[in-house]
Amino acid sequence: MISMIWAMDENWLIGKDNMLPWHYPKDLAYFKRHTKDCAVLMGDMTYQSLKTYYVSKPLPFKKVYIANIEDKVYPDGLLVKDLFHFLKTTDEDIMIIGGKTIYQLSLPYAQRLYITYVLKTHNGNVYFPKFDLNAFKLIEKNIEDGLIFAVYERKS
Ligand SMILES: NC(=O)c1ccc[n+]([C@@H]2O[C@H](COP(=O)([O-])OP(=O)(O)OC[C@H]3O[C@@H](n4cnc5c(N)ncnc54)[C@H](OP(=O)(O)O)[C@@H]3O)[C@@H](O)[C@H]2O)c1
Repeated sequence: MISMIWAMDENWLIGKDNMLPWHYPKDLAYFKRHTKDCAVLMGDMTYQSLKTYYVSKPLPFKKVYIANIEDKVYPDGLLVKDLFHFLKTTDEDIMIIGGKTIYQLSLPYAQRLYITYVLKTHNGNVYFPKFDLNAFKLIEKNIEDGLIFAVYERKS
């Protein structure tokens, strides 16, 4: 199954200069809980961003795939050059962890969405691409410290 996880503010902001625009420990803990035993897929920009947090520590995932059109060898991840072929043919459970480009391209393949709604507006320059959430049904919702943790499944 292909799942996606992200946090966005009231304007659907998700990034600022290739970093998160905020620091919400509860959301980081939620992200870690839902990704630590997973095969994750991310774009090269998000990988570079994550590596600034994990300078001398290994990335905290079971398996790492990194999407990049250019040929590149990653010391701790596998290159996905043909994203659509990968999404169509993988038989693994994949959690997509960003960023904007990879969310946008992967959304048609996603069965489950883990969305953290930040109930505020922040400053930044990268927004989640608009899409129709009506294609998904809400299956779980928790509110904690100004954050809504919502899980959706694609309607059949
Ligand atoms: N709030 C959140 O939950 C959250 C989570 C993750 C990331 N973010 C934010 O998202 C932003 C980064 O997003 P981004 O869109 O700039 O970068 P990105 O999605 O992380 O990475 C884009 C990469 O995808 C590659 N790519 C594009 N099309 C492809 C295809 N068809 N097959 C394989 N690879 C392909 C590009 O390769 P080329 O370079 O060769 O074109 C590029 O390197 C940052 O600000 C980050 O902080 C937010």
